[in-house]
Amino acid sequence: MSEFIKAAVIGHPIKHSKSPLIHQTWIERYKRNGEYNALDIPPEELEARLPELVAEGYSGFNLTLPHKELALELCDQIDELARRVGAVNTISVRGGKLYGTNTDVYGFTENIKQAAPDFNFKSGPAVVLGAGGAARAVVHGLLQEGAPYVILTNRTRERALALAKNSADPARVEVENWYYRHEVLRKAALVVNTTSLGMAEQKPLELDLTHLRAGAHVCDIVYNPLMTELLMRAKQKGHPVITGIGMLLYQAQPAFHSWFGVLPAVDDNLKNQILRENGRTT
Ligand code: ATR
Repeated sequence: MSEFIKAAVIGHPIKHSKSPLIHQTWIERYKRNGEYNALDIPPEELEARLPELVAEGYSGFNLTLPHKELALELCDQIDELARRVGAVNTISVRGGKLYGTNTDVYGFTENIKQAAPDFNFKSGPAVVLGAGGAARAVVHGLLQEGAPYVILTNRTRERALALAKNSADPARVEVENWYYRHEVLRKAALVVNTTSLGMAEQKPLELDLTHLRAGAHVCDIVYNPLMTELLMRAKQKGHPVITGIGMLLYQAQPAFHSWFGVLPAVDDNLKNQILRENGRTT
């Protein structure tokens, strides 16, 4: 029998995390000898708990809110991508040391590539709404895939300015006032909502799609509900839409691969399982 592999997602709170469902499904499907747990650890305890978990035999961790930035400091080594994005969401333990990376960028770009294979990142600028942790990964992914430039707009302008300044290519990130978010859509080949607006139990995102040109793609990283009010309106206007469920699944793929040694498939079965859970938790 192969070595027993233990991994976990760490967050605070943790009960809404879908990562256990995703990884446990893959463990069963690929007959891995291991387990994936959910650990609720407050930020002030993370530094002390990580070495204890390593001593207990853990091989890897996913980090979720509010730990992604803090984890940058707590890893023995972080890769260039995590440093650039300013967040670690995946840790692998090797020889007792913690190696941090970021798979949210891959999650975002791979979701677009799989859901909209005809979309060309280089075909025009992208408008990104929001400037939190998720937006950092999204902007990084867009720059990496060759978007001519990114128009970034956020309710709190200072956060957008800071994100632009710390991005991989500040010359390709324009900050626009939140008030003008409707007008800037006329330039967009792709619009991405990274705010929490539109999530179950939150207000919808107010965004007038009048100026959005025909054929522009609209992506929401929110996946509960799957079809947000924004995506429903975009679809009604004939725009191709990309839901957020793929970003969640694809960010998990490289993490599972690095711990359990097999690249798992993202398929509709798994998507539907998560969507059924959505129904139960809201
Ligand atoms: P995450 O790490 O998931 O991106 P976050 O860092 O809390 O989460 O960011 C949430 C994003 O949603 C931010 O861009 C936030 O805007 P502010 O920076 O101004 O807070 C945005 N957001 C949340 N509620 C909002 C609202 N009512 N109107 C507009 N933007 C909102």
